[in-house]
Amino acid sequence: MNHKVTVVGGAGNVGATVARGIAEKQLADVVVIDIADQKAAGIALDMLEACPIYGSDSLVMGTGDYAESAGSDIVVITSGVPRKPGMSRDDLLNVNYKIMQQVTEQVVKYSPDCIIVPVANPLDAMAQAIYRLSKFPRERVIGMAGVLDSARMRSFIAKELNVSVENVHAFVLGGHGDTMVPLPRYSTVAGVPITDLLDKAAIDRIVARTAGGGAEITQLVGTSAWYAPGASVVEMVEAILLDKKKILPCSVFLRGEYGVRDVFAGVPCKLGARGLEKVIEIKLTPEEDAAFKKSAAAVKELVEVINV
Ligand code: NAI
Ligand code: 2OP
Repeated sequence: MNHKVTVVGGAGNVGATVARGIAEKQLADVVVIDIADQKAAGIALDMLEACPIYGSDSLVMGTGDYAESAGSDIVVITSGVPRKPGMSRDDLLNVNYKIMQQVTEQVVKYSPDCIIVPVANPLDAMAQAIYRLSKFPRERVIGMAGVLDSARMRSFIAKELNVSVENVHAFVLGGHGDTMVPLPRYSTVAGVPITDLLDKAAIDRIVARTAGGGAEITQLVGTSAWYAPGASVVEMVEAILLDKKKILPCSVFLRGEYGVRDVFAGVPCKLGARGLEKVIEIKLTPEEDAAFKKSAAAVKELVEVINV
């Protein structure tokens, strides 16, 4: 039997990119749910009609009716307002929290055993809202942000050093906001830390561009990014459905790891069939540790506003 993945908000930019990526890779059948139900039906039909060209037997359908999502293995939640130029992700807090309340109720009702991948911003706070509202164990609520932030950093490193992105690994921890923590010491090219390959000025440029990566695209496009965010979600979905035990940076509920408790923040996670299978703890310098704790504290401030 095929796996089933639902994408709530799937008629939007990020959601449609996720749905298309899953169908193209034939990872699962896909249900696209959106309050724009007719658009959801239309873009899902368009994706289904592309599947013969991909050589994919994934079934894709779109609707506003959550009953069609019943029994999903994974539900990706991209429903939410994106930011406009000049807005921060945090400006979306209250409006997107209301959407999380409506959506999570339906997701839990129809797919009580699913793994939820929150995407809507501000990511860590929305993931925490979904975690509290769903009452799922923490292993089954895994926010997407770190894969995107690390991919941005990887592409900047590869460009700077004129090497293949395939040789580059990058590490970004913390919340998905202005306080995110790119870690040059753990970012490598063919296993060599970039701190051995680039001078401080170049590293500082890459770190700053990574932290401002979302704003850079929002400024250019007039709304936030979707190709790299969509691809990032697909990588997480693939790791879970194929039980790959892949280590990816994800936003999860911390219970004392990295000295932080009761808040979502980005850390390296092992993803497999059970969802979050392990939080990987790496050694941080006092400066890195302070930056991580500052970032987690920024998420805590947000979750206190919505009381989750
Ligand atoms: P979009 O506006 O293109 O799509 C949002 C979709 O959600 C729309 O189709 C809308 O009809 C739908 N929607 C709104 N309320 C709904 C509800 N109650 N039930 C079902 N569907 C509903 O926005 P885009 O660009 O796809 O971004 C979506 C969210 O993802 C935003 O909050 C954005 O900030 C966030 N985002 C997060 C990233 C991350 O790294 N975590 C990266 C990129 C975007
Ligand atoms: C991004 O980083 C807006 O969070 C979104 O592109």
